[in-house]
Amino acid sequence: MSQHFQHDVLVIGSGAAGLSLALTLPDHLRIAVLSKGDLANGSTFWAQGGVAAVLDTADTVASHVEDTLNAGGGLCNEDAVRFTVEHSREAIQWLIDLGVPFTRDDPPVADGGFEFHLTREGGHSHRRIIHAADATGAAIFRTLLAQAQTRPNIELLEQRVAVDLITEPKLGLEGTRCLGAYVLDRSTGEVDTHSARFTVLACGGAAKVYLYTSNPDGACGDGIAMAWRSGCRVGNLEFNQFHPTCLYHPQAKSFLITEALRGEGAYLKLPNGERFMQRFDPRAELAPRDIVARAIDHEMKRLGADCVFLDISHQPEAFIKSHFPTVYERCLTFGIDITRQPIPVVPAAHYTCGGVLVDQHGSTDVPGLYAIGETSFTGLHGANRMASNSLLECFVYARSAAADIVTQLQDVAHPGALPAWDSSQVTDSDEDVIIAHNWDELRRFMWDYVGIVRTNKRLQRARHRVRLLLDEIDEFYSNYKVSRDLIELRNLAQVAELMIDSAMARKESRGLHFTLDYPDLLPEARDTVLVPPTFAG
Ligand code: FUM
Repeated sequence: MSQHFQHDVLVIGSGAAGLSLALTLPDHLRIAVLSKGDLANGSTFWAQGGVAAVLDTADTVASHVEDTLNAGGGLCNEDAVRFTVEHSREAIQWLIDLGVPFTRDDPPVADGGFEFHLTREGGHSHRRIIHAADATGAAIFRTLLAQAQTRPNIELLEQRVAVDLITEPKLGLEGTRCLGAYVLDRSTGEVDTHSARFTVLACGGAAKVYLYTSNPDGACGDGIAMAWRSGCRVGNLEFNQFHPTCLYHPQAKSFLITEALRGEGAYLKLPNGERFMQRFDPRAELAPRDIVARAIDHEMKRLGADCVFLDISHQPEAFIKSHFPTVYERCLTFGIDITRQPIPVVPAAHYTCGGVLVDQHGSTDVPGLYAIGETSFTGLHGANRMASNSLLECFVYARSAAADIVTQLQDVAHPGALPAWDSSQVTDSDEDVIIAHNWDELRRFMWDYVGIVRTNKRLQRARHRVRLLLDEIDEFYSNYKVSRDLIELRNLAQVAELMIDSAMARKESRGLHFTLDYPDLLPEARDTVLVPPTFAG
């Protein structure tokens, strides 16, 4: 039997953004935080590098803003950048107060100096990345989770997959408000109704749309797809960031080699041991990611090489082991001793720069619905996200959204009982092979046709194929009971179509979007905003 749950705030996603929002809301609110699998399944847990913030006395807000604007290829929203950077120090202080074990400076700094170690990453002109060795995401996640577990008003619900948002128009009611979500409980197989005064999408990005990715399995664009189907505009989905350095090894699935290695002096090398980045950008290994990823792609294609190499072995062994224990251990399990040998690396899909259009409070086009973190499009990242700005965005916007919800509490009543999910017309699927096949096909043509280098022809091919898949998936969805795989495939295919449409709409090469048919930059930088058929204005 399906159930009906009532919450004040329903948070879909249990990563840095979702947990931060839940922890910032007042104790008297009943909050549910949903996770598709185990709580630690999201991208936050795997983040290695850190959080960019203005912390060093020699650094300034103006400098962080300028670096972000430069990396963003003329497309950042300067207000969003300034807002995020200006709130960076207080967000970090909040994390420190919660107990996140950031790496301290060794030896300790003199009196009055900042006591935590700051590293560097591509595009940043200062050391401004606060981190917990090379496992920052795990340290932050564990701290936030431990805090959430002490809060009786926060319910942490695992194995819950949101199927779709419930809105007034979908129920045939007057108004445009979001009233909650239908959610598959994987332990019962039932789709439950979760009604809420406020619903928050904190579901991460959609890098799983590509065959090779640094992301965990759940990064399927669920929040973007659900928001789109509910009438929210989406923006800049053509800008998919490829991380330049993922471990290249047949048994290493999705393992990132943090950019902080390059921040601490690692060199990128060709198979013959020659450095090459200085041929592409004066900042060499510390150029922004779009430039480094394209340079690697170019060199691999030119040489017919399977990978390039990242070499930090010239640094002292003790330094490498203490700063990069996770990378060191992981590579060692594959027989690579990074204190002595270069690491084979390739670019892989890493971050979705676009997403659901939101304002400075994370509010979407649909009243009562917020989007935060990678799901959202705040304007911070422009055409290319600067390393470690994304965790910062999670904290700043989660706290801003929570504050906005508080201002509306008096005016928003609970929606009350809502209709249950109707599963009377569907049966158990007897053809799960179709889901697996479509999943593989989608990710492969996205990699081949909508990857680091694009052309009109490739995008048209991808458009044709994704339409066929969407029709097939719709039919499947109408006839069979939903499963996690089907829900994710439906969302992924939807977001893939939005990415392709966005890429086709951009008739220039800018930031992460590079096409051989329009290699130049247009004089005016414009966002690509797609409007859904259900947009209420
Ligand atoms: O390379 C990294 O550690 C990744 C950082 C980021 O994506 O912000």
